[in-house]
Amino acid sequence: MLIITAKDYDEMSQKAARYIAAEILLKPDCLLGLATGSTPIGTYQELIRIHQQEGLSFQKVRTVNLDEYYGLPASHEQSYRYFMQETLFDHIDICPDKTHVPDGLTKDPQSYGKEYDELIVALGGIDLLLLGIGSNGHIAFNEPGSYFTAQTRLVDLNPNTIEDNSRFFESKDDVPRQAISMGMKSILDSKRIVILASGAGKAQAIKDMLEGPVDPMLPASILQLHSNVTLIADKAALALVQPD
Ligand code: PGA
Repeated sequence: MLIITAKDYDEMSQKAARYIAAEILLKPDCLLGLATGSTPIGTYQELIRIHQQEGLSFQKVRTVNLDEYYGLPASHEQSYRYFMQETLFDHIDICPDKTHVPDGLTKDPQSYGKEYDELIVALGGIDLLLLGIGSNGHIAFNEPGSYFTAQTRLVDLNPNTIEDNSRFFESKDDVPRQAISMGMKSILDSKRIVILASGAGKAQAIKDMLEGPVDPMLPASILQLHSNVTLIADKAALALVQPD
């Protein structure tokens, strides 16, 4: 795994945005896998700046998002579709019909998950997948204990994730208990993966991801087995990693 150290959150975001911009320049119709949460916000802001000031076009870009809270409509302020519109899509020249976020209202999550994975394959596979990491080592909402072969599906959120994400809701009780999450299989089938981490709260998960055994209890550890992963992390997130 290539590790790029940034001095802080802003530098991490700039480096990540440059990576994504380079992918778009090389392959204007690339399929990007996109994450939500606090970590990629700065990356999306920087991509908007590159679009506005340097003319990077997203017109041919296609996107698939990692996950969506189950039971939240796209119009809900905490839905991930809403987040993507507000944080990125509404500020760039991407075609709305080329963006895909799992449907949190699907009545048949099992068939829907299968269709979502088939869609990714039909779109040619993810060229570049942007990931965050949970403090418990989850990637997307593949919580500890997820099968490495798991398909896109309905998942129960771990209590630790509910606690972490309660900061976005009025109370912990308002955090949805389930989500539709891209499975580990589609994540691992991505051609390139960029994983971001910022802050001391991620330091243990990053250490375990890099140095621990490959273990379903730390889902991100499977990335050790992928041939093209770049970790872009700030110093605080890398604080517990042993230097070579
Ligand atoms: P965060 O979430 O970016 O809000 O810390 C990351 C994740 O849960 O994957």
